[in-house]
Amino acid sequence: METVVDAANKGANGSGQNKSVTVVFVLGGPGSGKGTQCANIVEHFGYTHLSAGDLLRAEIKSGSENGNMIDNMIKEGKIVPSEVTIKLLQKAIQENGNDKFLIDGFPRNEENRAAFESVTGIEPEFVLFFDCSEGEMETRLLNRNQGRVDDNIETIRKRFKVFLESSLPVIEYYNAKGKVRKIDAAKPIEKVFESVRSVFTILGDKAAA
Ligand code: ADP
Ligand code: C5P
Ligand code: MG
Repeated sequence: METVVDAANKGANGSGQNKSVTVVFVLGGPGSGKGTQCANIVEHFGYTHLSAGDLLRAEIKSGSENGNMIDNMIKEGKIVPSEVTIKLLQKAIQENGNDKFLIDGFPRNEENRAAFESVTGIEPEFVLFFDCSEGEMETRLLNRNQGRVDDNIETIRKRFKVFLESSLPVIEYYNAKGKVRKIDAAKPIEKVFESVRSVFTILGDKAAA
């Protein structure tokens, strides 16, 4: 089976020319501001934003056979099996002509991490980690007003528990490899972006800033 790396190496025109993809994982608790800051990074640094949660919600809307299962998992704040999420991410990467991707809200657990690495062979350039207190995240989620089925206090508590138990260990894993760029995400949006900007500028994307 063609992997995402094979596909990426073919280039947007399928010419077989070498083309490597740069991937940055964007992690942090629910409501830490991942989506908000990804929009800024896209605007200033030319990345393509892929939110695993958005891809899963689109899959529900599309009437896919996995729709019900995904919907139930999201309502419970549980993590959808990697196979499903990775297929959606692979497809999104393959269909996009860009070679720089922000993967937001993934990997969410050890299974996500290990499966993505073995299926795609992709190692993240670094991991952007939005660090924020539960109190602040709870306030933001309860005010998000996007009609999400999981932005209610009961599901929010479950999502916090899953974040602590399953997602933080993934951040620890990358931290041990020196790959985590931790951002104080409790500040106002513009201040958070100042920190984010300096991480991407140091990376050498200054020309695009
Ligand atoms: P995530 O993608 O991490 O779940 P979002 O980017 O959707 O988080 O942000 C959650 C909510 O908090 C949104 O309503 C957003 O407008 C708001 N928000 C994001 N960043 C901040 C910030 N730094 N300060 C205050 N509110 C924020
Ligand atoms: O990142 P976001 O808040 O949009 O994720 C919403 C929900 O989507 C998560 O609580 C989880 O149920 C599901 N999800 C998942 N696996 C991921 C990302 C999100 O199961 N990697
Ligand atoms: Mg989000």
